[in-house]
Amino acid sequence: MAFYRAQGSVPPKRHTQHRGDDGGLYYEELMGEEGFSSDSSLLYHRFIPSAISDAREWPLDLSTTPNHPLLPRHLKLHDLFAADSVGVDVVTGRRLVLGNGDVRISYVVADAPSPWYRNGIGDECIYVERGGARVETVFGMFVVGEGDYLVIPRATTHRWIPLVAGDEGFAEPLRAYAIEANSHIAPPKRYLSKFGQLLEHAPYCERDLRGPEGPLLAEDIGADPEAATEVYIKHRTSTGIVGTVYTYPYHPLEVVGWDGCLYPYAFNVADFEPITGRVHQPPPVHQVFEGYNFVICNFVPRKVDYHPLSIPVPYYHSNVDSDEVMFYADGDYEARKGSGIGKGSISLHPGGHAHGPQPGATEASIGVERFDELAVMVDTFRPLELGDAGALVDDGKYAWSWVGGRG
Ligand SMILES: [Fe+2]
Repeated sequence: MAFYRAQGSVPPKRHTQHRGDDGGLYYEELMGEEGFSSDSSLLYHRFIPSAISDAREWPLDLSTTPNHPLLPRHLKLHDLFAADSVGVDVVTGRRLVLGNGDVRISYVVADAPSPWYRNGIGDECIYVERGGARVETVFGMFVVGEGDYLVIPRATTHRWIPLVAGDEGFAEPLRAYAIEANSHIAPPKRYLSKFGQLLEHAPYCERDLRGPEGPLLAEDIGADPEAATEVYIKHRTSTGIVGTVYTYPYHPLEVVGWDGCLYPYAFNVADFEPITGRVHQPPPVHQVFEGYNFVICNFVPRKVDYHPLSIPVPYYHSNVDSDEVMFYADGDYEARKGSGIGKGSISLHPGGHAHGPQPGATEASIGVERFDELAVMVDTFRPLELGDAGALVDDGKYAWSWVGGRG
């Protein structure tokens, strides 16, 4: 995000002496992408960022199964967690639904604080389906709620603290849809000026993005600044994704100030201004972010096609170059009527299979002026495989819904 922010205490000149009240130097860290050649921020630490006192393995199983024989699928994410499940957190409790070598999609219903965590593989984009959370990061704090995306850059140390029933305004447990990239996640390039400003034809602008509130220090949350703390780290080896737990001899909230263009930010889907037309608009108008080999789109409540002979639901389409994952977060989805798909469902429409409205949905949509739907879509340019959780909640019959059931 090439949009400069500064918070807390930073020296007037970069890479110069910056001292605290006791006269000691702060430790300057450059956190930068693409080897000093892309966006970066400078963080000023009270403790040495590289100081670790222990390391151990964090066992992770992110194995996947190929979508073979090739099938469109309906995965019922709300069946993954029991209504009375407790002690689940956003980091260690997220369950892998779909994934490939570029991106992983997981889902969690959480009520417990997560451990401190950072993803050493790529950026994360977490969509809050319901409920809310306080997210503490080394850059500062966010309060996120329904419809928020939180984009967290690779290597950002943070933790999730769900706001549970009884916290003001949050009556439901936190339901989070996690999109983990092996790359960076950013606004679509075509919406950015050559210097990175969001252009006039973009469906959102910098004013819609919320930065972290900071600086946030251990003592601000009643913690001991010198308390030894474990940080869970997800990273890669030649054998796949693994985890390590570091112990630091201090609390992670110790950055007194930072500035730059690399930081986490939040964006609410209600601030996405839909692009509409007289006839059906293709999915790229719904795009909100992109990563390497995938895009993220959202289908928001909107006025639909207004040509006198328009057909508001999509035409049948072949995803020649992609697998399409739609997460139905709210509202009614006109094109899927009669398929069993509802709130909390995922549809997977893989490349190699033409898909479109269920029987009757096209005719039923004619004359409709508005769609009350809210869905988050991930299109991947390499095939997706099923994670353990995805296979567990596959309804097993969606593939035959266009013929009214398997013969
Ligand atoms: Fe589609």
